[in-house]
Amino acid sequence: MEGMLKPGTFKGKTILITGGGTGLGRSMGKYLMELGANLVITSRKKEVIDKTAAELKELTGGRILSVPCDVRKYEEIEHLLNISEQEFGQIDGVLNNAAGNFISPTERLSHRAFDIIVDIVLRGTYYMTLAMGKRWIAKNHPGTFLNIVTTYAWTGSGYVVPSACGKAGVLALTRSLAVEWGKYKIRCNAIAPGPFPTEGAWSRLMPGDLASKFDPAKRIPLHRVGDHQELANLAAYLLSDFSGYVTGEVITIDGGEWLRNGGEFSHLEELPNEMWDQLEKSRAK
Ligand code: HXC
Ligand code: NAP
Repeated sequence: MEGMLKPGTFKGKTILITGGGTGLGRSMGKYLMELGANLVITSRKKEVIDKTAAELKELTGGRILSVPCDVRKYEEIEHLLNISEQEFGQIDGVLNNAAGNFISPTERLSHRAFDIIVDIVLRGTYYMTLAMGKRWIAKNHPGTFLNIVTTYAWTGSGYVVPSACGKAGVLALTRSLAVEWGKYKIRCNAIAPGPFPTEGAWSRLMPGDLASKFDPAKRIPLHRVGDHQELANLAAYLLSDFSGYVTGEVITIDGGEWLRNGGEFSHLEELPNEMWDQLEKSRAK
């Protein structure tokens, strides 16, 4: 899978990625650096982001700063933004990617378990958005937010209810601020990925032999999971000036998964051809 955008697309631009040390955040960050971006990555685990920063610097030769920050703590976000602006002068785009999730029947959850997920996903995103947005508005600096949600932000989903609530809130934030802050030249968009294998998601959402019992590829019209570069291409486009007239949008990248699973008759793909032959003969005239 190849990169899509022109080399140098992000030259002179600085992008901040929450949860940028692992998984999809790391993959999107690597591609942005390949396109010339200065990168700031953050998460709670200093050793993880420091290691990723060293690797991406080595791989791309670009500039990268790793700053630990828990996105649930507003003062830590302010500190992160201060250090980032000292290093790079300004931030041009924020990729709200940090999340927490696990599967569980909802009635088994403690209220603290519910809190922890909603706090990382929703509170973390609105804290980061508010802190960055105030700075962009005060400096009259255009900026772009890109928020990673999921397709169950609008369908809902059992067994991941705190995550569904959090992501639905993030989608509402995306659309609301796209309208309210358009006058400040601040764009807000979201991406809703289907399954893209990562250690973080797979270990929590498909623990044990769940992955073999419920192979996600089988539920997807394109019969495969996503490739990280496919997501990175879309993220880079939405963060770049090439998408300058796109705001308030959520783009799904899931191989057709959510539509298939909402379609009344989608399960008929399981019927063999012989059965279709029989049905054709016996169909009502
Ligand atoms: C039920 C659980 C639980 C589980 C923790 N808790 N894990 N409850 N099932 N599997 C409960 C605990 O009992 C506790 O409640 C409360 O949650 C806090 O747990 P801690 O372990 O103290 O929290 P912490 O160490 O801060 O870890 C946070 C975490 C962890 C969210 C639980 O998984 C994490 O750090 N996740 C970050 C990365 C991540 O989740 N990535 C996956 C994103 S994938 P009590 O009441 O006992 O105190 C994703 C994909 C979406 O979002 C769509 C896919 C298609
Ligand atoms: P991941 O590697 O576990 O990424 C989650 C990141 O969030 C981690 O780097 C984690 O780092 C960080 N994080 C968690 N809590 C934080 C906090 N309080 N403050 C700051 N950072 C925090 O999983 P992933 O699969 O790449 O997920 C990335 C994004 O894609 C998430 O928004 C997820 O919901 C979304 N998504 C993933 C899939 C998929 O199939 N993988 C599908 C749909 C949507 P620390 O633990 O160091 O804090």
